Formats: sequence, structure tokens, C-alpha cells
Amino acid sequence: MRTDPLAYLAAELDSLGAQGLRRSLRELTGEQAHRSVVDGRSVVNLSSNNYLGLTNHPSLKARAIDAIERLGVGSGSVRTIAGTMAIHTELERRLADFKQVEAVVVFQSGFTANAGTVSSILTKEDIVISDELNHASIIDGCRLSRATIKVFPHKDVDAARAIVRDLPAGPRKLLITDGVFSMDGDLGPLPALCALAEEYGCIMMVDDAHASGVFGRNGRGTVDHFGVHGRVDVQVGTLSKAVGALGGYVAGSRALIDFLHHRARPFLFSTSHPPAVAAACLAAIELLLAEPQLIERLWDNTRFFQAGLKTLGFDTGLSESPITPVIVGDGAKAMQLSDRLFAEGVFAQGIAFPTVARDRARVRTIVTATHTRDELQFALDAFGKVGRELGLV
Ligand SMILES: Cc1ncc(COP(=O)(O)O)c(C=O)c1O
Repeated sequence: MRTDPLAYLAAELDSLGAQGLRRSLRELTGEQAHRSVVDGRSVVNLSSNNYLGLTNHPSLKARAIDAIERLGVGSGSVRTIAGTMAIHTELERRLADFKQVEAVVVFQSGFTANAGTVSSILTKEDIVISDELNHASIIDGCRLSRATIKVFPHKDVDAARAIVRDLPAGPRKLLITDGVFSMDGDLGPLPALCALAEEYGCIMMVDDAHASGVFGRNGRGTVDHFGVHGRVDVQVGTLSKAVGALGGYVAGSRALIDFLHHRARPFLFSTSHPPAVAAACLAAIELLLAEPQLIERLWDNTRFFQAGLKTLGFDTGLSESPITPVIVGDGAKAMQLSDRLFAEGVFAQGIAFPTVARDRARVRTIVTATHTRDELQFALDAFGKVGRELGLV
């Protein structure tokens, strides 16, 4: 009989199980919302990136349905062959206006926007200087580019400067940071990094996945929040989180975007969005412009929830955004906290190594604009009860 050549995978899963780190996928039976039915249980949902509650907003749904009726369910091709529909181009034009840049290109996801961009604008002769907590899609893009990767400690601009200062003059250099770090909710030090990039002639790139729709005027992102327009050469945003649908985009100069049309592999070799996705994103941008109070509600809820967690005595790290980690340390303990919260009616996912460092496991919470105060208070009460039970507070 043939021995299973993949048997080592089962062994690895068993080892995860023994460490209390094996997870099964939780399933939502209805909508992604502030209260959702997850694994058959109605819970307050603190695990989504649906910051503004747009995943099921009536105007996004109506526009998506209308696009399906008029344009069908698929684009049928990659962008560079026959998959560029007028609605894709319209979305890019609107995003470019919104971000106050010359041009925008939309990718299938934020992941492919980062990985496709970094890997195509750099070669193996070049150097990336990257924050140690940058997102996996940046790390993969750096690896695919085959450029030399220099990692600086989280947000440590002096350390980044020491790296850049000692680099040879010849190679191109890309300085790259997340705008909002996805596991800690803190902000990249954009003004200081921009100054460093300018001093040494680096390309400056920011991944604003968690800032799109959350920071800056009408959710224009951290470049707007910090007032560094014109100083960041490559801005990445997502359409999958606060915008409520799916996708990623790169915002920058006309030449950057035209180059990506020719060289970014996910753009060249993977089918473009269904028109309904582009239509929903267009509706979302209109909402961001017309109803900035949605973003204000998100921040009100964030302040309320973070203050509540701190009063209870939890370690919420250095969050400056609606992403609030409840840091526990041990991976199995974080999973236990998450499971107990779930039993109490609160869905807050546990996150352990390799997503975060082994001793920084946590439960990550994200409130949204659509949570009610009662729901947030219910979640805080559950955190208090379970935290005391597990000896965390
Ligand atoms: C910092 C960061 N960048 C990029 C991405 C990828 O975005 P998307 O989900 O649109 O692929 C994520 C999402 O997980 C993220 O957290």
C-alpha cells in the first residue's frame, strides 16, 4: 500500500493540538455584522474588519445588485486582456480623487496589492528596509522581489536610520511600513519615516489596509491623518475592511500605476473583480464622503470599549485605533480566553504564534460603528467575568 507522502502534515496538526493551538474555522450562518450567528450561536462580533458596518449596508447591496443585473456576475478575464470594465476604471478614478493622487490601480485584494507591488518595483539588486511587524503580504512581496531585506525593530526610526545610513549608495531602497499595524492597532511613525526616506532618497511605501475608511478626513488614511500628502510614493489601501467589499488598491503617480499595469503579476495573471464588487466599492466611497458621522461613531465606540477594558485591568498594548489587543502572553491561554468569551456570547478571536510572537499571544478585538452601547457593555462584562476566572485581571 502507498504510504501517505503528506503524513507529516497530520503530525504537525497533532502537535498543534497538543499545544492547545489547533483551531477549526468558525462559521457564520448569516451576515457579517455587529451581532452575528457564529457556529449556530448569536454572539457580539468583535472579530471582523467591518469597521463601518458596510458589509451589509443597504446602499452597497443595492448598487451591487444593480451591477449584477446590468453587467453580470463576472468579468471573465484578467485586466490586461478583456477584464477591464468601465466600472473598474470608474472606481480607480474615484479612488484617485479620494486619495488626492494622480492614479490608482485596483487589485483583487490588499494582499495581492502589497505582494504584487513590492515584488514588481524591486529587483534582486535592491534593498527593502521594513518594520518587523509589517503585514505578511509585504513580507511575501519582499521575498518574491529577491531584494535584500533589512528589518528594523517595530517603529524604531533611529534603528531604521542606522540601517539606511550604512547602505551602499548604488541600490534602490524601499522604506516600508504599515499605516496601522494589524495585530497591535498602533500607527506607523509616518512623518519621521518620510523624513528619513527624503534624506536618503528612499522610495516611501505605506500599507494603509486598516486605515482606509478609519483614519484621515473621510477615511482617506494615515497619509491624510499625518498630513504627509506628496511624501509617500506608494500607498496601498484595502476595499475589504472598512469599505466592506473586497479588493486592494495602489495609489500614487501615473508612472507607478502604468508600470504596475505592465509588471504586477496578480494584475496580469488573475481575473479582475466581478462588477458587483466595484459597484459596492463606489457606493462605499460615496458614503464615506456623504456620511463621515459613520467614522465618528466608530471612534466613539472605540473610546468607550478601550476605556472599559483598561478599567477592568487588561493589557491592551499601545493601540491607537479600533484594533484593541487584549494581550495574554501564552498562546494556549489566549485560545482559552477566546473560547470562554465565545461561550459567554462574545466572538473575539485568539491570535498566537506565528501571527504574533510566541510570548505576545492575545485576543484581538475590533469594534465597529454599528455596535450598540449595550452590546459593547455586554462584551465588557463578559471580558471581566472570564478575565477574573482565568486570573488575567
Ligand atoms: C496590514 C494589512 N495589510 C494587508 C492586508 C490584506 O488585505 P486584504 O484582506 O484586502 O487582502 C491585511 C488584511 O489582513 C492587513 O491586515
